[in-house]
Amino acid sequence: MLILGIETSCDETAAAVVRADAPKGERVVSEAILSQLDEHRPYGGVVPEIAARSHLDHIDTLVAQAMEQAGAGFADLDAIAVTAGPGLIGGVIVGVMTAKAIAAVHRKPLVAVNHLEGHALTPRLSDDVPFPYLLLLVSGGHCQILAVEDVGRYRRLGTTIDDAAGEAFDKVAKMLGLGYPGGPALQKAAERGDPRRFDLPRPMKGRPGCDFSFSGLKTSVRQTVEKLPPGPLTPQDKADLAASFQAALVDSVRDRVKKAIQQFKELYPHGTALVTAGGVAANAPLRAGLKALAEQAKLDFVAPPLKWCTDNAAMIAWAGAEHLRRGAAASLDFKPRPRWPLDPDAPKSTGAGAVKA
Ligand code: KG4
Ligand code: ZN
Repeated sequence: MLILGIETSCDETAAAVVRADAPKGERVVSEAILSQLDEHRPYGGVVPEIAARSHLDHIDTLVAQAMEQAGAGFADLDAIAVTAGPGLIGGVIVGVMTAKAIAAVHRKPLVAVNHLEGHALTPRLSDDVPFPYLLLLVSGGHCQILAVEDVGRYRRLGTTIDDAAGEAFDKVAKMLGLGYPGGPALQKAAERGDPRRFDLPRPMKGRPGCDFSFSGLKTSVRQTVEKLPPGPLTPQDKADLAASFQAALVDSVRDRVKKAIQQFKELYPHGTALVTAGGVAANAPLRAGLKALAEQAKLDFVAPPLKWCTDNAAMIAWAGAEHLRRGAAASLDFKPRPRWPLDPDAPKSTGAGAVKA
């Protein structure tokens, strides 16, 4: 089963060809990806209009590259899978239009993939993790804990009531003048810092449920900066603030995941693994904390390779394949969806503020 995947929902334009019936390790036949980081850097964040135009400029070339590297023609494909949401709508439309055109011209089945489902099923692409498993999805736009029961069956155990974890990393890094994207820069600065110098809050720690909140922590960092002597922050101040922030965030996430593991084990006694995905899953102290929690709970800990944790098209092709195996393909008239929750039945989160898709 040979599938072309297309991903354009945020700031990565990506195409990949996946052979879904190959053994793990041999499935991803080709990948072409273009990050828009440089285009958004001057603005300190993703600008939707710039993103959409850039996707439009590059998607055809990237699809051609992926096909060429795979040594395949469109006629060889069994299907095309495309991110149909949630995400920045301009970009999603570009991907969906491209995929529909290829599918229509070459008379191939088309699968509309939920981007979050792409992340959620990645541990099966990389490691054949059996259902059910517990997923922590932490990126710039998403922050959720999900029980993955089966393809298309997700139970949301927790979500953020304000910012996503990556958003908090990015905003604090900007505050400290550490550069964009903030997560990797902040982790690096924190390596030279003292995590005990500033006593920052651990949001939601000890609270019932598994929801997250990071906006209060971000405000505390700002207030701490304001209390320091006037003038630019010294490199040591920056490193200590970065280390203290990272320790507080990791501590808070660990507490939430620990609660989620308890719930997961009650709901699914045969659950197999704790897995993580999303850009923030690259954070080394967070990974170490999650691994320890999984070991205590006698669950496997699976973190897919970094290039498949962040946004990519291989995960979209794979999710498409998982649906096709179960007989699902979309008609050509589906519409892109800016919002598309994985678990539509999930109760509203416990706090005010925008909840990320
Ligand atoms: O999954 P991703 O590439 O894009 C989406 O947001 O969908 O995630 C990007 C996010 C950014 O907020 C970035 O700062 C964060 O992941 N990130 C990290 C690290 N590497 C990337 N955050 C903390 N530590 C890292 N090492
Ligand atoms: Zn993503």
